[in-house]
Amino acid sequence: SIDIKVNTLLAKMTLEEKIGQMNQYNGFWDVTGPVPSNGDAANKYDHLKKGWVGSMLNVRGVKEVRKVQKIAVEETRLGIPLIIGFDVIHGYKTISPIPLAEAASWDLEAIKLSAQVAAEEAAASGINWTFAPMVDISRDARWGRVMEGAGEDPYLGSLIAKARVEGFQGDDLSLANTIAACAKHFAGYGFAEAGRDYNTVDVGTSTLYNIILPPFKAAKEAGVRTFMNAFNELNGIPATGSAFLQRDILKGEWNFDGFMVTDWGSINEMITHRQAKDRLHAAEIAIKAGSDMDMESYAYVNELARLVKEGKVDESLIDDAVKRILRVKYELGLFDDPYKYCNETVEKEVIGSKRINDAVLDVAKKSIVLLKNENNLLPLKKNGLKIALIGALANDKTSPLGSWRIAADDETAVSVLEGMQAYKGNTITFEKGADVVTGETLFPKELTINVSDKSGFASAVTAAKNADVVVMVLGEHGLHSGEGRSRSEIGLTGVQQELLETVYKANKNIVLVLNNGRPLAIEWADEHIPAIVEAWHLGTQSGHAVAQVLYGDYNPSGKLPMTFPKNVGQVPIYYNHKSTGRPTLPAPGEVFWSHYTDVSNAPLYPFGYGLSYTTFAYSDLKVDVISDTSVAVSVTLTNTGQVKGKEVAQLYLRDEFASVTRPVRELKGFELVELNPSESKTLKFTLSKAELGFFDNNGKFVVEPGDFSVFVGGSSEATLTSQFNLK
Ligand code: IFM
Repeated sequence: SIDIKVNTLLAKMTLEEKIGQMNQYNGFWDVTGPVPSNGDAANKYDHLKKGWVGSMLNVRGVKEVRKVQKIAVEETRLGIPLIIGFDVIHGYKTISPIPLAEAASWDLEAIKLSAQVAAEEAAASGINWTFAPMVDISRDARWGRVMEGAGEDPYLGSLIAKARVEGFQGDDLSLANTIAACAKHFAGYGFAEAGRDYNTVDVGTSTLYNIILPPFKAAKEAGVRTFMNAFNELNGIPATGSAFLQRDILKGEWNFDGFMVTDWGSINEMITHRQAKDRLHAAEIAIKAGSDMDMESYAYVNELARLVKEGKVDESLIDDAVKRILRVKYELGLFDDPYKYCNETVEKEVIGSKRINDAVLDVAKKSIVLLKNENNLLPLKKNGLKIALIGALANDKTSPLGSWRIAADDETAVSVLEGMQAYKGNTITFEKGADVVTGETLFPKELTINVSDKSGFASAVTAAKNADVVVMVLGEHGLHSGEGRSRSEIGLTGVQQELLETVYKANKNIVLVLNNGRPLAIEWADEHIPAIVEAWHLGTQSGHAVAQVLYGDYNPSGKLPMTFPKNVGQVPIYYNHKSTGRPTLPAPGEVFWSHYTDVSNAPLYPFGYGLSYTTFAYSDLKVDVISDTSVAVSVTLTNTGQVKGKEVAQLYLRDEFASVTRPVRELKGFELVELNPSESKTLKFTLSKAELGFFDNNGKFVVEPGDFSVFVGGSSEATLTSQFNLK
């Protein structure tokens, strides 16, 4: 019946009104892209009143949303409500861990809940559409936006995409506490050359079909209502102008019936990509390619009518796009009540509620990864310790919010200092040692990394000398990663490495707590520092989460969703790489094999890696071939340590030979298991067609007979293995 309503409304619309639905404007306050300087933006209010705007982004708060919605509903001829979009990437006002951190939890329920409470808060603030989840797979830690995705693996990434879509959209999109989700950026954005944001993407079909597209497909299957295309060109065609991606794959093969929004200004950028000669041409390419809504290019609103009138674009393409947009508006219930997200009482009750803070604290703890713990330095005793807490990030209440948290106020995160001070039994001396950034930390502005003032080192050294244990919080500021924040060096920023080495000379008993939005190259720290905790940017409750892990009130269970390199020269480095024709050293001193002369091929920490305060053992691996498309795997997991703990048991598959070369191993199953000391559990996995096969170079999914190996264990370097053959 929604389709009937859509068609009835469409029949009443003028061409200009239809095109209006395909036009999205940025609001008047927050900015998440470059504002055009040519005066286009001056007509926004006027266009709104004429019914030439279908959506706005970056309008937030019940009062402001109501204002623009009122114009659309009460002042335009047809009164079609706006759909209000916003980047609810990891929380709205109450911030959850950056998505890369959440991926480290491997806890799909916690991730889903995090998206669900983010949707609730955003919906309470007038928003009904998020530009999330970002499901771009990336293997390049230099790329600033790895913080926003689920890491390097398409299997894990697909499950997380599904969890996030289900979290945002819930079971019923028409409820006032769920919002439409958006799978972005379609496609290939995470493969920017050299990790430089917006750079060229040139990937082969095998990578496109087997690595890049699966999480998008998973989002579609989970019912995501919108997609966003990408800034990048993919194999020579800007994604915004790619009929192959949008018409052939998404709307064709996958039968997607929601709508595609462009990325900010990406129709215009087809001109700077040099695919289109001018805006008229760019608009023509974009609509023909299947871009339904224009975000901030001012191209559709200014050019589409002319293209239709001149016969260059068939009006049926416009009708199709408008139907898709109206369908989602109906599904959201906006026609029943355009102000359903505009309730001040709900806004006051929901935003920042205890329930939401509890949920983000829970997922924050689960996102922490214990990278090293020599001589069980962790967990720390709760009483009688003299602790030196060193590093500017330890006392920072903004950085833990991470990038992409535009609605959250600065200084609203619990710092590590505050989190540790909540435990009263120890004495804590804080010294910043050195700044990590200077100047203002504003979302759309570049931060200064080259901080060189070392005048605080001496006090840090004194504090370390007088301490039983030193906790150093180092890494990157929350705004050192994110959009437009690629880095060519991926160590600790500024003078933090020097600070670490200086303090180490005074006291070797150091727990290094990392704050970062990407894998960091910390080889020196791994060699020297006895305990290392990966604490990412964990959001509003950051400091409590870190302190609870340091004191053992939460036993860390996270596993890396992205490989950590030894140095930046190894990047892109990922566990599911190919064998190459020369994978191993043939004889000592030999050079003719695939390697570096100055660093090994091995990562610093592999994908799937993470320790616990207890230990786990895997045994009794059994593999049973049930049919050519079904293999049963079982394994026993035992907690062999002293305390209760959680393990992410991982199953990897290696297709020994195939018509298109397959990775050395690929994640094909995992289970998050909690066990008491000495407790065992038999875990069962089933490998079916989806896990056993792959996409060939024509995009066709095939399962080929032959030999396979299974590996089961606590990381992608799992050694317990068994072989089987498919006929
Ligand atoms: O959603 C974002 C996108 O990821 C990058 N460009 C701007 C959009 C809207 O803010």
